[in-house]
Amino acid sequence: MAQDTFFITTPIYYVNGEPHLGHAYTTVAADAIARWQRFRGRDVFFLTGTDEHGQKVYQTALSRGLTPQQHCDELTVPFRALFDRLLCSYDDYIRTTEPRHTRVVQAILQTLYDNGDIYADSYEGWYSTTAERFWAEDELVDGKCPDTGQPVEWLAEDNYYFKMASYADRFRQWIHDHPDFIEPVARRNEVLGLLKKEVGDLCITRPKSRLPWGIPIPWDDGFVTYVWFDALINYISAPGYRSQDPETEARFERLWPADYHLLGKDILTTHSLYWATMLFAMGLPPARTLYAHGWWTNTGVKMSKSLGNVVDPNLLIDAYGADAVRYFFLREIPFGNDGDFSHDSFLVRYNAELANDLGNLAHRALSMTGKWLGGTVPPVGDVTADDQALWDLAADVVPRFADLIEALDYRGALGALMTLAGAGNKYIDTQQPWALNKRGETTRLGTVMRHVLELCRVAGTLLSTVCPTKGPELLGKLGLTLAPLGAGGLADLARLDVLVHGSPIAAGDPLFPRLTELPDIVKASLPDQPVQAPKKKKKKSKKKAAPKEPITFDDFGRLDLRAGVVVEAGPHPDADRLLVLQVDIGEERPRSIVAGIASRFAPAELVGRTVVVVANLVPAELRGVLSEGMLLAAGGKRVVDLATFADPVTPGTVVR
Ligand code: MSP
Repeated sequence: MAQDTFFITTPIYYVNGEPHLGHAYTTVAADAIARWQRFRGRDVFFLTGTDEHGQKVYQTALSRGLTPQQHCDELTVPFRALFDRLLCSYDDYIRTTEPRHTRVVQAILQTLYDNGDIYADSYEGWYSTTAERFWAEDELVDGKCPDTGQPVEWLAEDNYYFKMASYADRFRQWIHDHPDFIEPVARRNEVLGLLKKEVGDLCITRPKSRLPWGIPIPWDDGFVTYVWFDALINYISAPGYRSQDPETEARFERLWPADYHLLGKDILTTHSLYWATMLFAMGLPPARTLYAHGWWTNTGVKMSKSLGNVVDPNLLIDAYGADAVRYFFLREIPFGNDGDFSHDSFLVRYNAELANDLGNLAHRALSMTGKWLGGTVPPVGDVTADDQALWDLAADVVPRFADLIEALDYRGALGALMTLAGAGNKYIDTQQPWALNKRGETTRLGTVMRHVLELCRVAGTLLSTVCPTKGPELLGKLGLTLAPLGAGGLADLARLDVLVHGSPIAAGDPLFPRLTELPDIVKASLPDQPVQAPKKKKKKSKKKAAPKEPITFDDFGRLDLRAGVVVEAGPHPDADRLLVLQVDIGEERPRSIVAGIASRFAPAELVGRTVVVVANLVPAELRGVLSEGMLLAAGGKRVVDLATFADPVTPGTVVR
């Protein structure tokens, strides 16, 4: 029988400090998918939680003068509170110090030991306290831990080992047989690369004399479980594996294998090699897909507690509201890539898309209907070609949004959603409802407003996945509540004649009020050198505004500018910042153009777009890919938008 369950997990977070933006990110990403799948009618289990064992947690507890358990009980609270504030609808929150977890870890250890998958041995090697693992001599970088850059010490100790090596071939085969097992594809290749080296067995204990904090090994008093061996098991202990409770065990049977483990790219080896081989030894299949996302950086450096460069997500929620924070997280950078956080880009993105495009559409639709049509949903009259174009767009965007979000292309999905807002605003501009009202053409006015109200319904429904307050708020203005997708599926959602004629609507307050400057709490939180930061900004804007030397008409005439249409777009194989586009400018074959716009656009958003191409730029290779032209764009280093035309223009048309 087909099972309509959907199981998604986040990593469980170490409780060795307050949560930061990186922790908030994965949980928000998982939440959006969980909400979408619930909307599609699936029985969702969304799991998150905290990882409470290991050396780092132990040391932090000691440094605070608390027992490790007291420390964990305290520090798990802000994680949970943050996820609640971020409107994350997790179904379970596991803590690895809970008996429901420790019991299962011990049961698994005992079984693997009894089966001969775990054996005792002694080992000598370079140990990194910060990474909590041994490294081979040739893995060290400048004699230091390759993961953390911290010093290592030579240690010899007895321990227990899991026979990971004996499952390595099966693991390799699994990756080959399941192309979707590790995503994005670059990460899959990374793991395949790792497997070219010989896989060893995994040390899964720590002597209590060195680390007393961990799950005791059931058959030997002298050891606790290695934190990763314990932590990964949360993905099966939480849903109910070996819980000895028939109901939760049955739930586990329904849910496993998980659909998605979301994780940061730094913990891919543990989630792929360690976890899959552990599951093989237990006789279970691995999750369907591990998706390793990129890192949020701060001026190019990974945000991390140890580097002290983290952004506090609670501050962002206070300043901008949870919905906008969630939107920014998922829209700003492609999920698999790294990206820099800055309040300036937050403001630009927020104002351009939430306040201007979407907020404006909603406000115009609702207030014009209120003003000229008595604040109720008008009937649909004759449908013109312009109206039909909106129908076609909605019919295209809705399934595209579904495909993209289900493939974790949040950026693309939200980009698709924003095309509805853009088209809606453009439709209002061309239909000119104010003129229709003036001329007393009420039937046509009603039809026009009905179409934009319907677009708001579609946009509000899709938006609810990422903005769980604002999406339903928009629907509420239309007199609707968010309901799971009906029997008519996505096709019905995309129809533009769903609202009920005569039902009341209300404009109310703007959904996303425009932000004219950074909120005061943000300004107050910015680094201690307030003089330096604005200075830098000033310099930038000066640079932008500085007039260039005058050119003659002839100078300008040397530019061959052409209208083009993007026919294909994809990532650059060797640079996260760049996209490779195929642009039709009316020649025999499309031009290959490399553009530094990956932080602004997902490839899918660009296909079909009309652009302006500098066609006589001398071709050049950019990081190994030929670029035969350049696109005109607004913005400096940070591209805001591409130059385009309001109406379709034939590829190759000269631009002056
Ligand atoms: N406890 C382990 C995970 C065990 S899962 C069985 C752990 N915890 S962590 O708190 O250090 O990191 C948790 C997650 O946060 C990881 O996926 C990590 O990639 C992510 N992030 C930490 N800093 C990050 C950024 N700056 N940006 C994005 N995510 C990052 O590892």
